[in-house]
Order: sequence, then structure tokens, then C-alpha cells
Amino acid sequence: MKKTIVLIYGGKSAEHDISILTAQSVMNAIDKEKFDVHPLYIGADGEWFKGEQIKGQIDDTTLLRSSIPIHNMIQALREVDGKVVDIVFPLLHGPNGEDGTIQGLLDVANIPYVGNGVLSSSVGMDKLVAKQLFTQRGLKQLPYVGFLHSEWLEYEDSVLHSIDKKLHFPMFVKPANLGSSLGISKVESTEELIEGIRQAFKYDRKVVVEQGVTAREIEVGVIGNDELQTTEPGEVVKQVDFYDYEAKYQEGNASLQIPAHIDEEQKKVMRHMATQAFKAADCAGLVRADFFLTEDGSIYINEINTMPGFTKFSMFPLLWANMNLAYSELIETLINLGIERFEQRQSISFQKDS
Ligand SMILES: Nc1ncnc2c1ncn2[C@@H]1O[C@H](COP(=O)(O)OP(=O)(O)O)[C@@H](O)[C@H]1O
Ligand SMILES: [Mg+2]
Repeated sequence: MKKTIVLIYGGKSAEHDISILTAQSVMNAIDKEKFDVHPLYIGADGEWFKGEQIKGQIDDTTLLRSSIPIHNMIQALREVDGKVVDIVFPLLHGPNGEDGTIQGLLDVANIPYVGNGVLSSSVGMDKLVAKQLFTQRGLKQLPYVGFLHSEWLEYEDSVLHSIDKKLHFPMFVKPANLGSSLGISKVESTEELIEGIRQAFKYDRKVVVEQGVTAREIEVGVIGNDELQTTEPGEVVKQVDFYDYEAKYQEGNASLQIPAHIDEEQKKVMRHMATQAFKAADCAGLVRADFFLTEDGSIYINEINTMPGFTKFSMFPLLWANMNLAYSELIETLINLGIERFEQRQSISFQKDS
């Protein structure tokens, strides 16, 4: 039987436009013999729009033109064209989508969805909480100092002192939440550090200052719920010093090397660390785990992405293609994992035994 699926994309986030590209890519690749595909677009201002069922190949203009504003969000997620929705696929990146908020709405409404739940989504979005959980799991990370805006305002000197004790230049200053490189800076001096911290606090109430390293950037894909599968690692071969917001979304700034040209042993360690990171954050469905590999061969986990870039040409789908799981099969696998996870949840009791 054909399944009814709602694809949510766009969203109130700096990654709104990349989400539209992802949605186009998924809408074109998804097997329409198996799925009735319905788009649900969230504008950059947060307004929701419902589109017509996707039947053939699409481009972004048809997508947006066919959409009509909707006011009953829960209803739009539950039922389309008189049919019960089997599963929702949130193709959203960044705040208001990758951070657990949409997932919470779907949980409350008891609607199955693809990918990570509330907890892992919000952990993945919060670099400081993620680091604390990775530490607890024994995963090697770069040294860091994290603090709140209120602590910075009140104890600037002692915060600077603890940074100075633990780290040396260059350092990376990051807003704890966001994930689009916005507000991130590489700093080389105390003046730059202070300025970087001030900038980062424009984007969040929590900031992480991290040891800067010269490193290759290697990524591993993970899928599964309880039983996990990992990909061979791939490398983001950098043409720039680091990926700030502009560099990240410009073509030609990076090329992907899949599989990465690294030692077999390093591959093994990263694949294992990727599953540990998945478990540390209690992930479901999928994760892309990102690593730094320094010149001396040290491997550090940098972060996990609970809704990684997902166009046909993004790292995560290409990592799976390299494992002989084609893009449309990957989409189907993730849908099935989402349904499996939903059914597991249904069997969990929320009440005291009578
Ligand atoms: N400690 C670090 N040392 C060297 N480069 C870093 C460091 N932290 C971040 N970077 C660079 O900045 C980029 C963005 O940082 P990241 O923590 O991955 O944030 P985002 O969530 O925006 O992807 C990384 O891909 C890397 O190029
Ligand atoms: Mg990153």
C-alpha cells in the first residue's frame, strides 16, 4: 500500500534556503510508486504553507507557487487530501527544525516522523551540552571553555583567565546553538577573543571557546535506531581556512573525497566513535558525525548533525551511495526507521500499571 508522506522544509532559520534545495532533491528522488508526497513549506517568517501533491519532477518555483497558507498546523500534519499521514519527514536545518521543536510538536500530536527525536535534536544543536555528553562517553575532543552571557557580563576577567589557563591561540569562538557557522570566529589575540565573544553573544546566551587546530575534516554517516550502520569516512577537502557562513554555502569552496584517504585504523576508530556519539546523544534514524584529524594522527570529535545536509550532492547521501545505498533507497530506509521508532514508542507505557 502506498504511504502518505509530508515533507516539511524551509523554516525560520539561516539555513532556510539550503532546506529548500534539500526538499527539491528529496521530492525528485523519492519513489512515487511507493509514496504519495505532500509538501509543507515554512516561510522564513515562520508562516506555514501547504502545497499540492508532488507527482513528477519539480523546481522551486512550482513548489512555492502552488502553496496556500494554513492555520491549523496539527491538522495539516495529520491529514492531507482526506488521507491520514503515515509519516512526516522534517527536512529542516538549524533552529526551529533541527533543534527538537518540530519534533516536539509531532510527538504531542502522536505523528510518526523521520529522524531524531526531541532530545537528540536539541543536544545536537547545543554544542556545549553535546560536548558534555561526549566527555561522559569518553570521546576525545579538543579542549574548550563554555560560559553563559550572564557569567561573561559579571566575571569577564575570570572567564578570560580560565580560557588563558586551558587554551592557546588560535582559538575558535562559537555560539553554542545555531550550526550554520554564523557568529563563529577564529581568533589570534586577546583583543580578537573579546571581540569574538561579543559577536558570538549576539546569536546565543551561551558561548564555547575551543582550542584551534590545523586539521583535516572527516565525516561519518550513521543510520539506525538500536542497530547502527556506519559509512566509510569521507573528507571535506578545504580550500579556505575555515567554513564561515559565506564559505559554507558557496560552491567550489570544498570538494568531497569519498572515501577519505586515511589509514584503515583511523577509519575504524572514527566509525566506532560515530556510533558512540550517536548513543551518547540518544539519536534515532540518522546522524553525521564530524571529526578533526590533526597532523600527528589524533582524532577528535567535533560535532554531530542530526539533520545533515541532505541534497543529492551533500556529504551524507554521498557517504551512503559509497556504501551502495542509493539516495532514493536511503530516503526509504530512513522512512522505515521512523515508522519502526514510532511503533516502539507506541508500545511504551506512560501510565502506572493498574
Ligand atoms: N577548534 C577548531 N579548530 C580548527 N577549525 C575549527 C575548529 N572549530 C571549528 N573549526 C572550523 O569551523 C567550521 C565550523 O565549525 P563547527 O563547529 O563545525 O560549526 P557548525 O555547527 O557551524 O558547522 C568547521 O567545519 C571547521 O572548518
Ligand atoms: Mg560543522
